[in-house]
Amino acid sequence: MTDRRPFVGGNWKMNTDLASAVELAEDIVAGIGGLTEQCEVAVFPPFPYLHSVGKTLEDHRIILGAQDVYHESNGAFTGEISVEMLLDLKVGVVLIGHSERRHVIGEPDELINLKALKAIEAGLDIILCLGENMTQREAGQTKQINLGQLEAGLSGIPTSQMSQVTIAYEPIWAIGTGLSATPADAEAAHGDIRGKLADLYDDSVANSVRIQYGGSVNANNAGDLFAQPNIDGGLIGGASLKADAFLDIVRDAARSG
Ligand code: PGA
Repeated sequence: MTDRRPFVGGNWKMNTDLASAVELAEDIVAGIGGLTEQCEVAVFPPFPYLHSVGKTLEDHRIILGAQDVYHESNGAFTGEISVEMLLDLKVGVVLIGHSERRHVIGEPDELINLKALKAIEAGLDIILCLGENMTQREAGQTKQINLGQLEAGLSGIPTSQMSQVTIAYEPIWAIGTGLSATPADAEAAHGDIRGKLADLYDDSVANSVRIQYGGSVNANNAGDLFAQPNIDGGLIGGASLKADAFLDIVRDAARSG
């Protein structure tokens, strides 16, 4: 048994337009009922729609999330977004090191760590994303890659601020492919991550940090994944773009808590 509250995030990535983003948020608000009592829920719209989606979510206990942030406060950083700007828009949580930031945009561990430190210092919650690719998995390097990304991402974050941190284990080969990790494989990776948190911090941190699974989660496989003892909800991409599917997944997480 665990007293970790499940946490489900909807990562909309570079999808929706203004009208459909607001409509999706409205549909989620309309269907969420009392689910936020058992499960924390966040959505991560594209930056230009944060303000409008935030207005729709106001007073509904669904957290507004951002997909990325930069580690400087202001200045000549064309195109970047600061933690202060996110706080201005009442963003509560930010994704750090999503696999598409790491592998499509090319963010290294050092930059990811700077972003994590800055967001934490500003009082934002973070979801630190990590996971191995297929070549690494086939070479038996899954544990080494995950724990390396975990240690690098959390470097300098003290025990006292670990309550602001959620980890998302997202094997790259499972993201957007329809090929989810099996519950047993995901559970093994989550157990390794939790063990490393105990090494880096202590048992109390290891037992309280939520570890989400992400990678082709849908309304059919979510229940079995979330039933695993070390899986505390999920980070959902494709299936979060339909309110009904997303709410079904939230319901599965609420039941697993
Ligand atoms: P997916 O994406 O659910 O579409 O696989 C998950 C993610 O990238 O967070």
